[in-house]
Amino acid sequence: MQALILAGGEGTRLRPLTATVPKPVVPLVDRPFIAFMLEWLKRHGVDDAVISCGFLASGVRNVLGDGSAYGVRLRYVEEPRPLGTGGAIKFAESLLEERVLVLNGDVLTDIDLTEQIAQHERTGAKLTLALIGVDDPSAYGLVRLNGDNSVRAFLEKPSPDQIDTNLVNAGAYVLERSVLDGIPAGRNVSIEREVFPTLVDNGLYGYESSGYWLDIGTPERYLQATHDILDGAVKTSVPDGYDGRSVALGSGTTVEGRLVGPAHVGDGVTIARGALVSGRTVLGRNVSIGAGAHVDGAVVLDGAVVGANTSITHAIVGPGVQLGASCRVGKGVVLGEGVVLGAENHLEAGARLFPNVSLPDGAIKF
Ligand code: GDD
Ligand code: MG
Repeated sequence: MQALILAGGEGTRLRPLTATVPKPVVPLVDRPFIAFMLEWLKRHGVDDAVISCGFLASGVRNVLGDGSAYGVRLRYVEEPRPLGTGGAIKFAESLLEERVLVLNGDVLTDIDLTEQIAQHERTGAKLTLALIGVDDPSAYGLVRLNGDNSVRAFLEKPSPDQIDTNLVNAGAYVLERSVLDGIPAGRNVSIEREVFPTLVDNGLYGYESSGYWLDIGTPERYLQATHDILDGAVKTSVPDGYDGRSVALGSGTTVEGRLVGPAHVGDGVTIARGALVSGRTVLGRNVSIGAGAHVDGAVVLDGAVVGANTSITHAIVGPGVQLGASCRVGKGVVLGEGVVLGAENHLEAGARLFPNVSLPDGAIKF
């Protein structure tokens, strides 16, 4: 089976994490995000994948290469400018087989694609969307379904008065290549807004899936994905490395403080005396946590240095960030690569600092 992964979006909602690294290869727990997708696709018989890139394309290619590390043959198409989801599929047409699985490149899921493909064959659909129930459909593509699983209506980013079901497009669909005949070449096309609605009553079906599903495209959801992987709430190979313990500890780590699992700690990490790391935290390689610091439910990426008595709660700290002593980094804060904070800065309420921003001691207090 062949897959096409859409990976050309700018990942604006995940900035500044995606200012230097494209969203598909943003590190999640211990690997580039898209590795989780490749692992999932491979379990359902995908051995060939085309990655549709735009923004920071070389970043994706450099990290994933020819796919041999993942057991899936990878090829890349690179758009000269963003063509939208439909335009991107059209642009890749010459590489596609008669039937292809199309995936949004930002979903962490263990949906049963094998079942979805079987339903697609049974109904003779042109396109079968995986559907998932969510609490608030407004950020997604809402799908109204008939009793025979055909789609009655597709509404991308519905307004509150349009929401009468919790089923949304999960960003994984089986597509017959003939659908592409109806997509114009060379211009920006949203498959959700311009193509799905035209297939209603004309070959568009939905597969109601159960299982884990999360679009990782915001800081809150990125952290949620991290916690769910550590909890084993989504089927991945991460816990395989735990050997029955709840903490994965890299080599060359020094833990003098307390480390409460589940947690993932990379190679060369130091946790100094009196520090507490808890609440499903991920520490990348060569991270240093200072004496008395408290890191809770956070992600601290490679090479970051956290000063003494600094606290980080449910926040994302980019690679190489340096935090001085007694800083407070609160919920939803995202610090871009190379940010330097002097001592006693307090960041709260989802503040975001762009790569290499530097603040002197005590510059921000909430
Ligand atoms: N190659 C390419 N070119 N890829 C693109 C482009 C483009 O111009 N625009 C977006 N993409 C990729 C993104 O990188 C992402 O992987 C995927 O297409 C979906 O784009 P998002 O920007 O993440 O869309 P969304 O999350 O708002 O909504 C989509 O996903 C929801 C599920 O998470 C829609 O498909 C919704 O219907 C769906 O419910
Ligand atoms: Mg998305």
